[in-house]
Amino acid sequence: MRGFGSDNHATVHPELLAAINEANINHAPSYGTDDWTESANKKIKSIFGTEWQPFFVFNGTAANVLSLGSHLESFHSIACADVSHLNVDECGAPEKIAGVKLISLKSHLGKISVDTIEEARIRLGDQHFSQLKMVSITQPTELGTVYSLEELRAIASYCQKQGLLLHLDGTRFFNACINLDCEAPDIARFFDVISLGGTKNGFMMGEAVLVKNPERAKVFKFFRKQYLQLPSKTRFISCQFARYFTNELYLKIASHSCSMAKLLEQRVHEIPFMEILYPVESNAVFARFPKKFLKKMREKYFFYVWDENDFSVRLMTSWDTTEHDIKGFYNQAVELTREAPL
Ligand SMILES: Cc1ncc(COP(=O)(O)O)c(C=O)c1O
Repeated sequence: MRGFGSDNHATVHPELLAAINEANINHAPSYGTDDWTESANKKIKSIFGTEWQPFFVFNGTAANVLSLGSHLESFHSIACADVSHLNVDECGAPEKIAGVKLISLKSHLGKISVDTIEEARIRLGDQHFSQLKMVSITQPTELGTVYSLEELRAIASYCQKQGLLLHLDGTRFFNACINLDCEAPDIARFFDVISLGGTKNGFMMGEAVLVKNPERAKVFKFFRKQYLQLPSKTRFISCQFARYFTNELYLKIASHSCSMAKLLEQRVHEIPFMEILYPVESNAVFARFPKKFLKKMREKYFFYVWDENDFSVRLMTSWDTTEHDIKGFYNQAVELTREAPL
C-alpha cells in the first residue's frame, strides 16, 4: 500500500540501508566510540559549524525532551506553539521526563512570534510561578510552513535580549533549507540546541541532538544516559548520518520530498472537492476533504484526517514519493467525482 500518511511510512533510503549493511561487519567499539560516529560527527560539524557537538539518539521525541531537560532546571518553563509536536504529540513526555512546564502559545500557520512569546514572559522572579527560560520552535512547522530567516532573526534576537534559550525541533530541517534556499548555518546560528531529524528523512531510525554551549555539551552525555537514549550500538545510527551527509544525499532527499509536495499541491488544486489550507513550504499538503469520499480515497492512498471537526486532512510526501503516486491519487479523486458528483 502506498499513500501520503506520513514520511514515517516511507521505506528506508537504499543508500542509508547500504550504509547500515556496510557498518554490519566485524566487531566495533560500542557507545559511540566507533569510526562511523567519529565520521558522522565530523561531517555534521563541517555542515553546521564546529561550534556544534552532535549526540545520537533513537527518536525525535527523545531528542526534543533531552534538548529541554539538559538545558533547564525543574522550575523552568518553555514556550512553544499550541500545534507543536512537543505540545500535542509527545504524550506529556517533556513534563514527565524533563520535568519542565510547557507554555502553549497561540500560533498562526504553525508559527509563533515575538508578541506571543512576550505575553508568556510574566511573573519573573515570582517564586510561585514557573520561570520562562526557553522557547522552542519547529522548522518546518507541523503545518508544513517555514519561518523566514527574518522571522527567525526576530525571535532569536528577542530571546537573546531576554536571556531565553532557543530550541529548534528540526525533524525535517533540510526541507526548510530547500524552501529558503539557504545553508544549514543560516538557520542553525539562531539556536542554542537543535533536534536534528533522521527518521523522517529516509533513515531506518535515528536522530541527533546538536548542542552549542560547550559547558552543556560537556555534560550532555550524562543526561543522554539518564534519559535512556545512549545507543549501545551507536554505529548503526551514526553510519546513516555519515552517509546522509555524503555527496549531498541530505539535500537530494529534502529536495525530492519538497518538490513532490509542490506537485501534489498542483494536482490537489485541480480536484474540485479539495481546498488547500496552508502554504506548501515543506513536504506536507493540508486540505479540506469531504467526509463522503474519505473511505474510498483512503482504500488506495492512505492519509490522515488532521482535524475531525472540519475534516481537514494532511497529505505527506517523502523521499520515496513518486509522480505515479500523485497521478494515481488525482485520478482516483476524479473518478470519485464522476461516480458521485458534488
Ligand atoms: C515535528 C516533529 N517533531 C518531533 C517528532 C517526534 O519524532 P518521533 O516520532 O521519532 O518521536 C515528530 C514525529 O512525527 C515530528 O513530526
